[in-house]
Amino acid sequence: MKRISIAIDGPAAAGKSTIAKMVARNLNYTYIDTGAMYRCVAYSAFIHGISYEDEAGVVGLLKDLKIKLLPDGSIRLNGEDVSSAIRANEVSMGASIVSQYAKVRSFLVAQQREMAKGGGVILDGRDIGTVVLPDAELKIYQVASVETRAKRRYKENIEKGIECDYEEMKAEIEARDKQDMNREVSPLKKADDAIELDTSNMSLEEVVAHVMDLVEKKLEE
Ligand code: CDP
Ligand code: CDP
Repeated sequence: MKRISIAIDGPAAAGKSTIAKMVARNLNYTYIDTGAMYRCVAYSAFIHGISYEDEAGVVGLLKDLKIKLLPDGSIRLNGEDVSSAIRANEVSMGASIVSQYAKVRSFLVAQQREMAKGGGVILDGRDIGTVVLPDAELKIYQVASVETRAKRRYKENIEKGIECDYEEMKAEIEARDKQDMNREVSPLKKADDAIELDTSNMSLEEVVAHVMDLVEKKLEE
């Protein structure tokens, strides 16, 4: 059976990674969380006391960064399990800042392409269909209203026991989307050949079923 490459892009908290993981499991494909890689760069700056705005300082960290995405979904940074630490709100905004630097992007994009070669992969992020894998067989641009996305992230945090404020969450998501869509290098945008999927009124199961239909059609082509 043909093993294709699937790209899922879209704004923050649209459900990209949850859907990508579920589809990867169904297909026995490798899931590649590219956002986690930008989060690792930001986290590294944070623990080294380097300001996210200090481009030269952040770029200087890259040569010593070894990021590993393990098959169980956990993330290792220079051997340390940073799976939870990189999800902190502080690191989300940091990731959005450091992801504006061309050298950070080219460093991570090269690794993402290497991991994706051979197909049988599903990557989620902001520039997968436009830059990382412009030839991906299936491209999805997953969106949902900002209220829906903020509610989902809020619920997720509360369930994990993380205290948060809905209005703050919404403002943070809006600010990050704006920054990601307006940066000069590889801004977040829908690839011309991507299928837009608005999940505002869809359950996770409905989204997965829809994506699986799209994959099956591609495999039949
Ligand atoms: O990866 P991304 O930031 O786009 O979003 P996510 O972390 O996968 O999803 C954010 C939250 O929305 C998760 O808690 C999902 O379970 C939830 N979600 C949902 O409730 N319904 C959907 N149709 C999609 C996601
Ligand atoms: O899960 P959520 O959508 O909140 O964020 P994420 O996918 O973990 O990405 C964190 C940040 O990394 C985003 O706000 C983007 O600024 C950046 N990013 C990027 O520039 N390109 C990617 N392919 C993935 C993430």
